[in-house]
Amino acid sequence: DWTMAAYRAEAIEKIRAQVGKGRVICGLSGGVDSSVAAVLIHEAIGEQLTCVYVDHGLMRHGESEQVVSLFREHYNIPLVHVDASELFLGKLAGVSDPEKKRKIIGGLFIDVFDEEAKKIGGADFLAQGTLYPDVIESVSALGGPSVTIKSHHNVGGLPERMNMKLVEPLRELFKDEVRALGRELGLPESFIGRHPFPGPGLAIRIPGEITREKADTLRKADLIYIDEIKKAGLYDEIWQAFSVLLPVNTVGVMGDVRTYEAVLALRAVTSTDGMTADYYPFEHAFLGRVATRIINEVQGVNRVVYDVTSKPPGTIEWE
Ligand code: XMP
Repeated sequence: DWTMAAYRAEAIEKIRAQVGKGRVICGLSGGVDSSVAAVLIHEAIGEQLTCVYVDHGLMRHGESEQVVSLFREHYNIPLVHVDASELFLGKLAGVSDPEKKRKIIGGLFIDVFDEEAKKIGGADFLAQGTLYPDVIESVSALGGPSVTIKSHHNVGGLPERMNMKLVEPLRELFKDEVRALGRELGLPESFIGRHPFPGPGLAIRIPGEITREKADTLRKADLIYIDEIKKAGLYDEIWQAFSVLLPVNTVGVMGDVRTYEAVLALRAVTSTDGMTADYYPFEHAFLGRVATRIINEVQGVNRVVYDVTSKPPGTIEWE
């Protein structure tokens, strides 16, 4: 695609001009945006870039392995893999408020990046995969005409204590354009087509208090759900599909035994940019199949419900 080839060349020139001989640290989230940003920046400045992938213990099943192998094996881009799950889950223990969760996670990410930056003798820039819709949603969140809905994104500057400037080469792009750029940069199709995943990860898909056990339960259920979506050939039609582990137990019966376990909500939406969305109209037989598998295969869940809320008035995530 000639447009993206031109964009790529121009973006690379801009990155070189901005960064000069400086050192850049780039946080990878496992999502398409940060991956495309990292590959693009690496193409521009090579070894001046250090990529850091922080596993906060709230990633999806298999995510860490996929990111590590994409960078180290497919691209041969060095990647620092930090297992910080103890740190994150420890600080999140007992916290229920969604915005507090985001603040804690955002703060810890910065601490970890800071530490990694120190290890390489300091970094001058922090790279982020901020997209255009992130910029607009945050502008209204930062005192514009509309109220703050969620403190989604890091747009709007870093905390003062981080002595780094931002490099955001995707700031003018929408998601479909980032995917086109990713293709241009040779990212595997399996990676490009992945559903978006929020920075705070499963933390905002576990309303109420987060525990490692809950995260494990959610990961297992979500894997089954996504697996069934892929088997049904629906994955690429859906913008985002995921499960939410509710802090509600209900009574059920398994064999002749009474159970009292958690409810799992399934979410799937279509969208072009995440700013508005419609719930996906699955066939009932599909939903029934997923519910049966999850209840049979995942301990701790005895009821499954499907979310039929569109955005607006709902948001895509539950928190
Ligand atoms: P909402 O829930 O606001 O989500 O309709 C719109 C898109 O943004 C993602 N999202 C986040 N991404 N940090 C992120 O990096 C966050 O805190 C966050 N909250 C929501 C969401 O997954 C959807 O794609």
